Amino acid sequence: MHRKLPFILLISLICAGTACTKVDVNFGGEFVDNSLSQIIKTDTIAPVLSTVYLDSFPTSAKGVTLVGGYTDPIFGRIDTKTYLEVAPPSTSAPYTNATFDSLSIIFKINHTYYGDTTKPVHIDVYQLSDYITPPITSSSLYNIDQFPVSNFLGGRDILISPTKVYPYPGILPTDTFTIRLSDALGKTLLKKLQTPGDPDMISAATFLQYFKGLRISSNAATNLVLGCKDSVIMRLSYQKADLYPVHLNADFVLSNSSHHFTNISVNRTGTPLATLPLKKVILSTAPGADSAAYTQAAAGAMTKITFPTLRSVLQAQNFVSIVKAVLIVRPVKGTYDNGFYLPSQLNLATTDLYNQPGGALSAPSAVGGVSSSFGTLYLDYLGENTGYTYDISSYIKAIVNDPSPDHINNNGLLLVPPSPAFETQFSRIVVGNSFNAYPYNKIELQVYYAAVTQTVP
Ligand SMILES: *[C@@H]1O[C@H](CO)[C@@H](O)[C@H](O)[C@H]1NC(C)=O
Ligand SMILES: *[C@@H]1O[C@H](CO)[C@@H](O)[C@H](O)[C@H]1NC(C)=O
Ligand SMILES: *[C@@H]1O[C@H](CO)[C@@H](O)[C@H](O)[C@H]1NC(C)=O
Ligand SMILES: *[C@@H]1O[C@H](CO)[C@@H](O)[C@H](O)[C@H]1NC(C)=O
Ligand SMILES: *[C@@H]1O[C@H](CO)[C@@H](O)[C@H](O)[C@H]1NC(C)=O
Repeated sequence: MHRKLPFILLISLICAGTACTKVDVNFGGEFVDNSLSQIIKTDTIAPVLSTVYLDSFPTSAKGVTLVGGYTDPIFGRIDTKTYLEVAPPSTSAPYTNATFDSLSIIFKINHTYYGDTTKPVHIDVYQLSDYITPPITSSSLYNIDQFPVSNFLGGRDILISPTKVYPYPGILPTDTFTIRLSDALGKTLLKKLQTPGDPDMISAATFLQYFKGLRISSNAATNLVLGCKDSVIMRLSYQKADLYPVHLNADFVLSNSSHHFTNISVNRTGTPLATLPLKKVILSTAPGADSAAYTQAAAGAMTKITFPTLRSVLQAQNFVSIVKAVLIVRPVKGTYDNGFYLPSQLNLATTDLYNQPGGALSAPSAVGGVSSSFGTLYLDYLGENTGYTYDISSYIKAIVNDPSPDHINNNGLLLVPPSPAFETQFSRIVVGNSFNAYPYNKIELQVYYAAVTQTVP
């Protein structure tokens, strides 16, 4: 009922100049049609797409250890390097008479991955030669940060299926995988644990001064990025002679999660996004090769959507007000498959002049409240209905109702996954623009507006 009043008011205002009859229009339901008003749907307001560059974003404390790299024909070669710090085990454990078995690092997979799971992923572990320190202006570490390494501690190839890890033939799949590290380091660490009051082992802080940290990286032959939990463990295994040998572990666990981050480097040579870091914005206005915009947030590419011609709806005949606006984002057919898959959720984030991502738009929820609006993927590999749908009524109404050209809303919207998928996953989308030759590839804005259909002479 509350919708009724303003509409009647508008009609009376419009009617004030002309000699039309004031009629009480029931506007409680959205799609009411009577002799005086109707709801008209238009899809002729073309959203404008561009791809904008995000040169740096925090990757620390996201709870995910990324390992590996892969080559994407559209987005380029992506390589990840995870940096982290570990804390020493308690020295109160009885290490006397212990003999060294092995030193290894243990990863627990988190079941997110991107790339080719039929080939092994190569993983290398290095010791850092410098402290992980955030930039002076920030307490976070970024995708572009890096720190020098000294000792190579170990590496191996490992075959990983999307949900399971095969340590080696004949062993059942598990959720964890292990890389053997340097015996020399292992023996040194055990010696230190056995030495009462060894200054390096007194606390996490003194150990950090001695050990610095670890870097997990991959090689150019690898074609898979794997998401693991951040709870990486460096395990020192040793045994003690008793009546029979006892096998024991001393675990060096992740210490400061604020210093756990991933360096993500992207080589875009030979891809449609080759000039992105230089140009910062690539406008998508032409049919053909440029008929799309691109989102892969963790690799610094975000689709930006603006509505420069939106206010033309005000000129529509007998326009009264916007009732509803729906945005449908569609991936270009053939740019995605089971390997290069689409993000399961994409937000419409507000942004500023510098294309920094802000908060996500919220949408009316089914129960009448407001929920944060993920466009959840509707997937249709065979047909042509794949896409993400958003109710952006309040956003569109705000732009239409604000006459100032520099209204904040004119900065547009960024199509990005919600964090932490934003920083830790490589699923990506090629978004068809308004000029795309195929309707099932096109982005579409559907605007429903109320119009007065007749004036009485
Ligand atoms: C360590 O080993 C020596 C000789 O093997 C033995 O005499 C000693 O009791 C052991 N110490 C502990 C704490 O087990
Ligand atoms: C963890 O890192 C943050 C950011 O650099 C720092 O402020 C904090 O003191 C560190 N915590 C510890 C226990 O070292
Ligand atoms: C870290 O990322 C930056 C920018 O992406 C890149 O130039 C640099 O080589 C990377 N460092 C390492 C060690 O990969
Ligand atoms: C980027 O890729 C191109 C082509 O694959 C290669 O020639 C070039 O050396 C690579 N650049 C870097 C910095 O690795
Ligand atoms: C795996 O990591 C993603 C972020 O990339 C996170 O959203 C998800 O909850 C994690 N899953 C598990 C099982 O830890």
